[in-house]
Amino acid sequence: MSKLIIQGGHKLEGELSIHGAKNSALPILAATLMCKGESVIHNCPVLSDVDASIKILEYLGCKIKRDGSTISVDSSNIINSDIPENLMNEMRSSIIFLGSLISQCNKTSLSFPGGCELGPRPIDLHLSAFKKMGVSIIEEHGFLNCSRKAKLKGSKIALSFPSVGATENILLAAVTAKGNTIISNAAREPEIVDLAAFLIKCGAKIRGAGHDNIYIEGVNSLTPCEHRVIPDRIATSTFMSSAAITGGDIIIKDTFPNHLWTIFPIFEEVGCKLTLNKNSLRIKGNNQLKGASTIRTMPYPGFPTDLQAPIMSMCTIAKGTTIFVENIFESRYKHVCELNRLGAKICVEGKVAIVYGVDGLSGATVRCTDLRGGASLVVAGLVAEGDTEILDIKHIDRGYECIEDKLNSIGANIKRIETSEDIIIE
Ligand code: EPZ
Repeated sequence: MSKLIIQGGHKLEGELSIHGAKNSALPILAATLMCKGESVIHNCPVLSDVDASIKILEYLGCKIKRDGSTISVDSSNIINSDIPENLMNEMRSSIIFLGSLISQCNKTSLSFPGGCELGPRPIDLHLSAFKKMGVSIIEEHGFLNCSRKAKLKGSKIALSFPSVGATENILLAAVTAKGNTIISNAAREPEIVDLAAFLIKCGAKIRGAGHDNIYIEGVNSLTPCEHRVIPDRIATSTFMSSAAITGGDIIIKDTFPNHLWTIFPIFEEVGCKLTLNKNSLRIKGNNQLKGASTIRTMPYPGFPTDLQAPIMSMCTIAKGTTIFVENIFESRYKHVCELNRLGAKICVEGKVAIVYGVDGLSGATVRCTDLRGGASLVVAGLVAEGDTEILDIKHIDRGYECIEDKLNSIGANIKRIETSEDIIIE
């Protein structure tokens, strides 16, 4: 497996640009399936999760053209309505294709997405909404066999939890359903607003995206459009943590600070200085960070669960103690053992992680457990004394474009060692 070797101790200084948001690009690519003709998506990040989505679109019959971060999807000629298990398993969030598939085809079959490193990833909210809209779903042998006898029915859907994926899947199913749909207790993330913006450009009638209640008036069909994906707020904050932990001074361009206003107080509390503009920000770290007040992960606009790990890394060398409470996922602390191998002092009790600030970290060999946990090891490696070797970096490549190139461009010293996974020594 490929690995990164980070030589710690370099202050990060300079400027970098942020790639498009993974968690916006994925549902928008699924939505292109619904627009007969060629849609053009700009600022699509070059990530393995995007590659996985493209494989699914091609299998379904879409013609794809890719030029850097611009992807054209022509879905004029859909030839398949199911998604084979091997393609579903490449990316857990492939379930997002169910909404667009069942709105276009009267039957579809895809494998039940497994759990992942973050614990069980139920989809009961997705399935109960689809059933209410007229989809019959038979779960057997690990597959979801879905069918409908007529057009999907607009419905009133109240989510027991503001699930991002369920909100997106219901949006995709509702935009060409017969009648009106209301999603109550909808997720409010910027990625939901971006998906709705894409769908509205395609002719959908949607009001309230980004708020608790979303109103959708079903239309007959959608037409292709051109759209630019919003910047990745999680990548932005990950690089902010990198500047903070190294006492650096960086400018982050092509980002939307207004998507992050609820986390800026944490960076200021630990001692960073922020300068915010419309599409960029400057963060100056501090040679002695202070611990933050308790950080509780919540649905947007609360503290994002995806930032728990990268911000935790920043707090490992802050003076004092920082408490984290992970309220979204069942087991999102797998990175803690790896951070402790680097000399951090973190104790986990159920949903709570207590980070006792230490004077410094020391390089070691550590292993990525998941996407954001892997990013947290990179953040820690930047300041750990000596070399840190990070294994299983395929997790990181799912959500960060060439993370080592970005960080090296502002002063880090990171090498990627590509090793073929199939080296067999007889
Ligand atoms: C999206 O996952 C993101 N992924 C995740 O980012 C992110 O952590 C998460 O939203 C929360 O913000 C993508 O957008 C591709 P949820 P999703 O449905 O949609 C429970 C990353 O690192 N739930 O909001 O799967 C679920 O178990 C990834 O980029 C149900 O119980 O998240 C979890 O506890 C990781 N039933 C909570 O809701 C359901 O039917 C949040 O899940 C659906 C969800």
